[in-house]
Amino acid sequence: MSASHAELFDPERSANFVEILENIRKTDPIFYFEREEFSAWVVTRHQHVATLLRDRRLIVPALGTRIAGFSGEQKSALEPMQEFIRVNLGRTRERRLDLRRATVGLFKPAAMQPLRGRVTDIVEQLLSAVDVHAPVDLVAAFSYPMPAMVMAELIGAPYADARKFIDWSNSLILFHRSYTFEGMLEAQKGVVEMLDYLAVLIEAKRGQGRDTKDLIGEFAVALDEGRFEMGELAASCATFLMAGHENTSHLIGNILNTLFLNPTQFDKVKADLSLLPNAIRETLRYNGVVPFLTREIAESFEFEGRRFEKGQMVSLSVFSANRDEEAFDDVNDFDISNKSARHHLGFGHGMNQCRGSHLGLMESEELLKLLLTRFPKMTTVDGGMETLCQPMLRRYITRFDVMLNP
Ligand code: HEM
Repeated sequence: MSASHAELFDPERSANFVEILENIRKTDPIFYFEREEFSAWVVTRHQHVATLLRDRRLIVPALGTRIAGFSGEQKSALEPMQEFIRVNLGRTRERRLDLRRATVGLFKPAAMQPLRGRVTDIVEQLLSAVDVHAPVDLVAAFSYPMPAMVMAELIGAPYADARKFIDWSNSLILFHRSYTFEGMLEAQKGVVEMLDYLAVLIEAKRGQGRDTKDLIGEFAVALDEGRFEMGELAASCATFLMAGHENTSHLIGNILNTLFLNPTQFDKVKADLSLLPNAIRETLRYNGVVPFLTREIAESFEFEGRRFEKGQMVSLSVFSANRDEEAFDDVNDFDISNKSARHHLGFGHGMNQCRGSHLGLMESEELLKLLLTRFPKMTTVDGGMETLCQPMLRRYITRFDVMLNP
């Protein structure tokens, strides 16, 4: 690994992250990063990242391997999560596709139209709780609670339970990020509560045929028809809750922040809200919320002159791919009219591509439309922003104070 590669993971050099990646893309775009705690192939070019996301020899890493090294007692204590992993992440490709088919209709662009009005109602409800003449934290007031309430709508649960979804989703995220037994055990509590809650909802909708057009209703039909087991459906629903909340919430913050940092572009959007969908796509390219995706090599193969060995990890730098000068023009400019923005990889690509992308786009659009129409003079507040930016890992805003009516 050359000096520039090491710099990529050096927190002291994080301000130069974009430049370092540009250099790597040009000189050695696929390299092996080796450290005691984590080693992986790092892939930085758009074409390579997209190709590998379609390659079936790469799989989403099996969380179960982390548990394999624990004692027998610890493994038993984590049995509920092991079952979750078996029925959810451990599914065969065919099973994944079956499940995808069962829910695809709910997430098509056409299915978004009837939901739009409900999303607007949710935003109005959140807005009514805000003092529009005092500083407002956009994250706490809107981007954090809104996606959870939309997920409640989608699964046919009361809005009052949205707060629980957030806590449970956080438990599932924590589990994904935990490497110790204690961490996993703690995270498991919330996940088990979530699975029990979802199983009760699914059970209650059984025997109603295709009358209910929500996620839980679809799953109840699948259960009645004997196509899936309850554990599998509850685990899948839990994944939807987590995925539907976290990324949408972070994307909304990134869009507004990027617009505030690019006032000319912001003025254009405010003057013509029909530009919003492409401004959101361009944010996913320029400043997305998922900077990289990890895969495990399930079968050894040669890739671009490198030998990818079974069992090695691959870190696909979505951030770098989205700034690849071979895939986009003027990569480091944020341009809301960028036609090629639609080739961004911010929703992933291939087999595991985001299933809620149209929903996430629609929610972000509706919230921003309403805020920009009512509060076109909205301004940021000095010192009112907190971000979590670990360049290769995460990039999002945790507090974002604005004056809606300055
Ligand atoms: C709007 C912001 C969103 C972003 C940036 C985003 C991003 C992503 C990305 C990058 C992946 C690929 C993960 C991988 O390949 O390992 C993914 C997968 C997924 N997303 Fe999203 N997502 C968003 C919103 C949503 C929403 C609103 C939902 C559901 C309601 C959702 C449901 C899913 C699901 C179920 C998967 C897993 C797909 C699979 O493995 O088959 N996402 N998302």
